[in-house]
Amino acid sequence: MRKNLGSQPALFPMPVTIVAAYDKNGTVCALNAAWVQICAMDKIALFIDADHKTTANIMQTKAFTVSIADVPNMEVADFFGIATGNKMPDKFERSGYHAVKSEFVNAPVITEFPVTLECELAEVVDTENMHAVVGRIVNVSADEKVVGDKDKIDPQKVNALVFDQYRSGYYTIGEKAGQAWNAGAGLMK
Ligand SMILES: Cc1cc2nc3c(=O)[nH]c(=O)nc-3n(C[C@H](O)[C@H](O)[C@H](O)COP(=O)(O)O)c2cc1C
Repeated sequence: MRKNLGSQPALFPMPVTIVAAYDKNGTVCALNAAWVQICAMDKIALFIDADHKTTANIMQTKAFTVSIADVPNMEVADFFGIATGNKMPDKFERSGYHAVKSEFVNAPVITEFPVTLECELAEVVDTENMHAVVGRIVNVSADEKVVGDKDKIDPQKVNALVFDQYRSGYYTIGEKAGQAWNAGAGLMK
């Protein structure tokens, strides 16, 4: 038997990402965002509220970074999702974390997170159905510790957090289960 559970955003897993941007004075703000999706080979869509401080920063500077939050950085990642720079101007400073300016865009790379997509603002899509901040991915930088053969990022070394929308849990990612475009190949015969 299956149960009907009504309309809800029931996708799992969702990523845990940290979106960061400077304000016009160069102060860093960062938020936690799970509603984030790659929407083209060089594009990423953020479904973030217009009234967040980090969103306002993105509108000012036209650039942002998206970092993957990993298990060792869960506490600060969650803090970035609880506190707002609108009420706590020193939010980023309080985290004790460090940021350097991206070599490619006018946005901060938070060095504690293992993988960062460095983006310039491409478009804001504001319709009846969505408010999306779309970025063009200009560069990806990663801690050498998570980069493997042929400069490919190794997902198991990234140790990414996963967000569960059902119960607001953070989860870790388990073992590799198979190879895409290959696991189903036997059924092609
Ligand atoms: C696990 C988690 C996921 C979140 N995902 C989103 C999201 O996808 N979009 C969004 O607008 N806010 C999201 N938030 C809420 C913001 O991170 C939060 O409102 C934050 O305080 C905004 O910070 P700012 O105003 O300093 O930019 C999330 C919070 C948490 C804890």
